[in-house]
Amino acid sequence: MIDKRMEEAINKQINEELYSAYLYLSMSAWFDSIGLKGFANWMMVQYKEETDHAMKFYNYLQSQGAEVKLFAIKEPPHSWDSPLHAFEETLKHEQHITKCINELVDLAEELKDRATYNMLQWFINEQVEEEENDREIIDKLKLIEGSRHGIYMIDRELAQRKYTPEI
Ligand code: FEO
Repeated sequence: MIDKRMEEAINKQINEELYSAYLYLSMSAWFDSIGLKGFANWMMVQYKEETDHAMKFYNYLQSQGAEVKLFAIKEPPHSWDSPLHAFEETLKHEQHITKCINELVDLAEELKDRATYNMLQWFINEQVEEEENDREIIDKLKLIEGSRHGIYMIDRELAQRKYTPEI
């Protein structure tokens, strides 16, 4: 059994994770539309991981006998100025998600909710990894300064990313 305040906060986080999925699916479609299939693949994997994150919270609420409430998902942008711009927006978004997770941890501490606190540790580690991945790609994109050959090489690398279910 968890506190109603925590139940509400986790339901909001499910929505944040589903918006993340929607944002990356939109980015995947945009990369595909400009012929960058490797970038599109990377974002498609990201989309799947985000739906897993939403489901982790969903399953957790159910395991606690709490109520799952699904809210409307905001419309994501449909295009970006460049691959670098898309990844800068991705990092900005992940920093926002990290802040949301930290706020959930603060609430768990305030409520002395040890089970939720424990469950959130996975997300804390995941956010470090997500921000690091985005920063690495941003650094590469800055290094090549928009060169077509460089973009092609990064596209080939990002095509290798494989989805591994996280739930
Ligand atoms: Fe579920 Fe990328 O944070």
